Amino acid sequence: MEYTAVKLVKRPVLNITPDLFEVVKLQTPELEEGQILVKQTHMSLDPAMKGWMMPDTDSYIPPVGLGEVMRSSGLGEVVESRNADFPVGSRVVGLIGWTEYAVSNGEGLNIVPAEIPAEAILCVLSLPGLTAYQGLMEMGKPKTGETIVVSGAAGSVGSLVGQLAKAEGLRVVGTAGSDDKCRWLEEELGFDKAINYKSANLRQALADATPDGVDLYFENTGGEIQHAVFERMNAHGRIIVCGMISDYNTDSPSAGPNWINIVRKRLTIQGFAMPDHWHKIPEMSQKLAEYLMTGKLKYRAHTLHGLESAIEGINLLFTGGNTGKLMVEL
Ligand SMILES: NC(=O)c1ccc[n+]([C@@H]2O[C@H](COP(=O)([O-])OP(=O)(O)OC[C@H]3O[C@@H](n4cnc5c(N)ncnc54)[C@H](OP(=O)(O)O)[C@@H]3O)[C@@H](O)[C@H]2O)c1
Repeated sequence: MEYTAVKLVKRPVLNITPDLFEVVKLQTPELEEGQILVKQTHMSLDPAMKGWMMPDTDSYIPPVGLGEVMRSSGLGEVVESRNADFPVGSRVVGLIGWTEYAVSNGEGLNIVPAEIPAEAILCVLSLPGLTAYQGLMEMGKPKTGETIVVSGAAGSVGSLVGQLAKAEGLRVVGTAGSDDKCRWLEEELGFDKAINYKSANLRQALADATPDGVDLYFENTGGEIQHAVFERMNAHGRIIVCGMISDYNTDSPSAGPNWINIVRKRLTIQGFAMPDHWHKIPEMSQKLAEYLMTGKLKYRAHTLHGLESAIEGINLLFTGGNTGKLMVEL
């Protein structure tokens, strides 16, 4: 059977442009013993993909090779199987790639129950939820009564971090790039304050929103927001560095704040990358499912349609055009 896939054929200079990709028609092969054929239904688009397109071999995961199908995680259905662990009809989530069909030996794929909506899986029970849980709960160790600031708060990871922190009894302040996003955070998700970092006097707005200072900072963006929050950190504050999206499309990384505050305030700053924590997926998914079922985690998907929509659509992550977890329905 013929299907469409998208290969990476060039590396980005700054932005992700359509000429980096080639849309190809491929044929599904005869399966070998142990293999399955997965028909992808929903594909996740993530900021990390920019890093995977770059030639950097010194990161937490190797780059995508030129001429290879672009890497991504997604949700699909097993349509042919020569692997008893993955019968035909199983719903699987994991690394599938920018492709309508993928042949796999099952490695890196997990079976998910048929009754969970696709959006809930990609918004909460996979990378965004796992990242929010690992970063906030396992590393940030939030305590009732503390104040947390989350940057990129209306995004897929940030919106879950804020809600998990709220459930733990923290004062939750988020930064986001539009008034609409800020309204959603305050009115729908229960953030105590959301600041539009593009229009507000950021330092003043942050001071007003965090009268007792900041105990915990969940960093998704870097840039000006990082400097402003760093200045408000309390003694023994913790900073969890999840990502720095404001730097992903620039040719030189922005300067960080001066380290003296780390001494004065005895701060702990810790970065993390989820591939180190994949072994905890079953345990963390169970916890996230409980939050979902008790209505403590709300989510929204921003869905594009058709595989090739990923080529232009991925840039919504870098312009702030996505309102919710960016995904493609195939
Ligand atoms: N460490 C890990 O293992 C791990 C795993 C997953 C994700 N991450 C990181 O988590 C962060 C959020 O990822 P996500 O998947 O949840 O994406 P997302 O937040 O759903 O989408 C990206 C958002 O980033 C914001 N943004 C873009 N450029 C910006 C800039 N220059 N300054 C400030 N904000 C900017 C935009 O929102 P606004 O409209 O608010 O500007 C955009 O909607 C990223 O840094 C990502 O790399 C890390």
